[in-house]
Amino acid sequence: KYELRAILLSASLMGIFLFAILYNVYARKIDVPTCIPYNASFQKAEIKEVDDLHYEVYIIAKMWTFDPGEIIIPPGSTVDFYLTSADVVHGFSIERKGVNLMAVPGAVNKVTVHFPDYGTYRIVCHEYCGIGHHNMMGKILVT
Ligand code: CUA
Repeated sequence: KYELRAILLSASLMGIFLFAILYNVYARKIDVPTCIPYNASFQKAEIKEVDDLHYEVYIIAKMWTFDPGEIIIPPGSTVDFYLTSADVVHGFSIERKGVNLMAVPGAVNKVTVHFPDYGTYRIVCHEYCGIGHHNMMGKILVT
């Protein structure tokens, strides 16, 4: 019957969309931001070299800076960003990288970003956080 065909068609479309999402996540390793429970060991900002071209950067956002404010890495690096806030909710956007995270007090958000090319990438706060909001930024130097 006609209706049955319509149902089957939409069901298969749903299946295709679902497959596309899962394909993106697993096969192409697109980074899905994760929220991990607050870990007491993350009390200070730091840049850790895990091994060759793999870094962990622990970032604390606070009114109105990111700590560390400047991150220097070589091209080809993969960086795990761990992000938290010392006061209010801040945004964390890496320009030209499609990264949009929230820095939330009491929580740690993580995102992994690959930097194959030389360049400077600005980090900007995209969540209104008070009078210094528009000046709240940092940068990543791939050099
Ligand atoms: Cu921090 Cu806006």
